[in-house]
Amino acid sequence: MIEEAAKLLARSRFAIAFTGAGISAESGVPTFRGFNGLWKKHRPEELATPEAFRRDPRLVWEFYKWRMDLIRKAKPNRAHYALAELEEMGILKAVITQNVDDLHREAGTRNLIELHGNIFRVRCTSCGYGEYLKESGRLEEFLREKDLPRCPDCGSLLRPDVVWFGEPLPRSALDEAFRLAERADLVLVIGTSGVVYPAAYVPQIVKETGGKVIEINPEESGITPIADVFLRCPAGEAMEKLMTRVKGLIG
Ligand code: OAD
Ligand code: ZN
Repeated sequence: MIEEAAKLLARSRFAIAFTGAGISAESGVPTFRGFNGLWKKHRPEELATPEAFRRDPRLVWEFYKWRMDLIRKAKPNRAHYALAELEEMGILKAVITQNVDDLHREAGTRNLIELHGNIFRVRCTSCGYGEYLKESGRLEEFLREKDLPRCPDCGSLLRPDVVWFGEPLPRSALDEAFRLAERADLVLVIGTSGVVYPAAYVPQIVKETGGKVIEINPEESGITPIADVFLRCPAGEAMEKLMTRVKGLIG
């Protein structure tokens, strides 16, 4: 199976990756569904919806600050680095991720499409103010602050720049993801349950337009039925083996 995946990847002309929470599991970032998933312990409608934020912004901010703090201590793993290396080699053209954890960027991926936002970005609920806390150097201060975060321009509440249930995805990111999917002759699907739409259309578009689908996941997912090759394996181990084979093939 790995051999077959390596051949497809080495032969591809325009490969993309589509990733979900499972690629960051080995970095210690909890996934949403499945064993130990976040949505087992917390109800999404109480924490990750616009209504929840209107009802109880403190509770929502507490949850997001807890995740920000957990994620900022996490490091990219072998799978994130492998994708950055495949891009460097000219094989992978883009990484389309549902993750908000920034680990692809930390690993060095350049062409990164974030469909669900980024947990280290905040934005104003009224005006156009936005801030990337890692860049502004205010992350620690932000996490320490006990009061609700306010916009420095207009004083309204700030919110995490992530997509909540019931909200549309950022238009430009979604358009770009679909454009890439139409063009791709191969998609490497890693660590996603493949049940959240419209994101999950990405591998389906690749398949429908004649591309190949390689999936890496220790469990079957919503994508498995359309996978040409299914590597039932954790992301780090699978990507390491795959990289060795691909390098062997392209010499
Ligand atoms: P899920 O939590 O739904 O799925 C995680 C997937 O990762 C599952 O299929 C696991 O089997 C797999 N997995 C677990 N450990 C793995 C490992 N070591 N290597 C590879 N795979 C592993 O996460 P997503 O599919 O990303 O939305 O969820 C999609 C969206 O639902 C998220 O972006 C989030 C959530 O609600 C928003 O925040 C809008
Ligand atoms: Zn504002």
